Amino acid sequence: MRVFVTGGTGFIGSAVVADLLAAGHEVLGLARSAASARALDAAGATPHLGSLEDVESLRTAAARTDGVVHTAFDTADLARFVEAGRVERTALEALGDVLAGSGRPLVVTAGFAFLTPGSVATEEYTSTDPASPVGRAAEPLARSMAESGVCTSVVRLPCVHGTGDRFTVPRYIDVARRTGVSAYVGDGLNRWSAVHHTDAARVYRLALEKAVPGARYHAVAEEGVPFKEVARTIGRRLGLPVVSTPPEEADAHFGIDSYFAQADIPASSALTRERLGWEPTGPTLLADLDRDGYYAA
Ligand SMILES: NC(=O)c1ccc[n+]([C@@H]2O[C@H](COP(=O)([O-])OP(=O)(O)OC[C@H]3O[C@@H](n4cnc5c(N)ncnc54)[C@H](OP(=O)(O)O)[C@@H]3O)[C@@H](O)[C@H]2O)c1
Repeated sequence: MRVFVTGGTGFIGSAVVADLLAAGHEVLGLARSAASARALDAAGATPHLGSLEDVESLRTAAARTDGVVHTAFDTADLARFVEAGRVERTALEALGDVLAGSGRPLVVTAGFAFLTPGSVATEEYTSTDPASPVGRAAEPLARSMAESGVCTSVVRLPCVHGTGDRFTVPRYIDVARRTGVSAYVGDGLNRWSAVHHTDAARVYRLALEKAVPGARYHAVAEEGVPFKEVARTIGRRLGLPVVSTPPEEADAHFGIDSYFAQADIPASSALTRERLGWEPTGPTLLADLDRDGYYAA
């Protein structure tokens, strides 16, 4: 297939590009700068100049390809999350306009934030409660697009780790360095589900190749890793004390990263494994966190 990938220079998108190319697909990658175009070219993809804000660039690329994988998102500044979500919505709507009725697949990235804390999330779960959205708007939007004739499927991502990670775990390494302790909240038994980025990339490719409208997949290798174990590994690697922070002090300690430090969001991938024949093979979160690469200055 000829596949248009957004975010192909990012941590997850670059693994998706590599996996697609290795499986024999051709990749057209969205590039919003000359540096990104060079990176895509070096990876073996064809750069397509444009951005999520430039919806005409998205329409043109979607019209020239057999399917789309969307991983781009402005993750650089969490304070701009709402604006980034708005940009993503408009971009997805533009892609959906081009793909509607064609049967050509659009695979969309979603997450587990705010997903039924305390219970193991399955692929069957969808939130209908507007007060507990399933991550940001991408997932509900993909669902409604599937109902109106776009072949969308959703890949829900947990904590994704691996070489080039700059989104989740590195933030907690930064907090530990800044505060001089590696902290967890309360008993620290709240769980994170996790996956290595190369395993996640395979879920995107299989979802694209399968092209089942309205499907939801969990790129989850580990159902629930206690946050205390994450904090312990970070503390050991940095030579810092590992301490419990009372819940009422978590916001002051972790700042904007307080939500995920306390989040209990275990997730299963039993249905994804069955439906896609997917089996993760990459390192576990704790093994990966023991790599020097995570602690380079
Ligand atoms: N990493 C995780 O643990 C994790 C967990 C759950 C969900 N997710 C989701 O997975 C997706 C990818 O995350 P990531 O960790 O791979 O992020 P990342 O490394 O920051 O990559 C973001 C990608 O999006 C591109 N991008 C950002 N804004 C853009 C815009 N306005 N127009 C065009 N391209 C734009 C970037 O291009 P440039 O190279 O040009 O900057 C880059 O290729 C995001 O939706 C994120 O929320 C990630």
